[in-house]
Amino acid sequence: MSITKHVNPHVMKVSPYQPGRPIEEVARELGLEPDSIIKLASNESPLGPSPKAVRAMKKACSEMHRYPDGGAFYLRKRISEHYGFPPDYFIFGCGSNELIEFIGHSFLYNGVSAVMSERAFVIYKIICGMFGAEAVEVPMKGLTHDLKAMLKAIRADTRVVFICNPNNPTGTMVKDKDVRKFMAEVPDDVLVVFDEAYAEICYKKMPDTLSYVREKRNVIVLRSFSKAYGLAGLRVGYGIAKPEIIQLLEKPRQPFNVNSMAQIAAAAALDDQGFVRRSRRLYKKGAQQITDACLEMGLEFEPPVANFMLIKVGNGFEVFNELQKKGVIVRPMAPYKLPEWIRISIGTEPENARFISALKTIVS
Ligand SMILES: Cc1ncc(COP(=O)(O)O)c(C=O)c1O
Repeated sequence: MSITKHVNPHVMKVSPYQPGRPIEEVARELGLEPDSIIKLASNESPLGPSPKAVRAMKKACSEMHRYPDGGAFYLRKRISEHYGFPPDYFIFGCGSNELIEFIGHSFLYNGVSAVMSERAFVIYKIICGMFGAEAVEVPMKGLTHDLKAMLKAIRADTRVVFICNPNNPTGTMVKDKDVRKFMAEVPDDVLVVFDEAYAEICYKKMPDTLSYVREKRNVIVLRSFSKAYGLAGLRVGYGIAKPEIIQLLEKPRQPFNVNSMAQIAAAAALDDQGFVRRSRRLYKKGAQQITDACLEMGLEFEPPVANFMLIKVGNGFEVFNELQKKGVIVRPMAPYKLPEWIRISIGTEPENARFISALKTIVS
């Protein structure tokens, strides 16, 4: 007898997330050498992990027989100093993705809704589905969140609004003045989630969302060690909110959700602001390199603000496949209803050059 009929009907309806393809998988499939492939598909750090984090991890190897500190005491202390918020303003997750799941556990269920942009980070919609809440998807203004329309979409049953800034995958940003207008009107019993996974490497001015945390509004700011500090493989992210919200999100958290190595690396990485500055400079330069190439090829693109950008290439899936055959992994955007676009993560100068030359041969 099939066990399927006993599955939670909400879970049954969920389509799993499709991540960027790993280098080894593409190498096996296409018979290529893994070393000959570049992956510009998951907005990872092309500079590797923060060197200070690597040194701290090497030292910590012989302590891995111990369970992690469930309260992340040391990381909490360091991050509290870094941001100037008390330690009880933070919650840690196995990546910031897990924090989105905690928000689902604590606030989303059958009969309530969450408002998001139609082309926002897809995990919000998946989490809504998992918990049986309705995902109210609001059309964008071009490829940017339309905060006015999102405000109008809030209903009596809305518990959460997700604002992804800069938005993955479109790479667009909402401005501080628009966020301020939104925050002036949003009902106070709605939790506003600012997903800022790219905040530190963003080279355009970010809205000051931490000011709403300071004012003790019903807001949580999500950030990650995956992007700016190059620790995506360790899975560590965090949320910043007033203690009342943190305590509600702590309820579904498993005691050892963030492993010891991740805690040690993340704390050390906070001392590596030089690495963050180097990364930001690299992305800004790389963005210019790819932008110039798009202009030369006459391709439409969304001006980048962090470490990824959207390019309109015609048939996005075909171009993704052709690039893959040439050993360059990017992301087709059809799942975001942008079939003509691909998303490219900005790499090192030679990686960007290789992408550009491969793209030129395909689109010419
Ligand atoms: C907007 C956004 N939020 C959250 C995440 C998840 O990041 P993490 O690696 O911290 O789980 C990503 C990852 O790509 C992202 O783009």
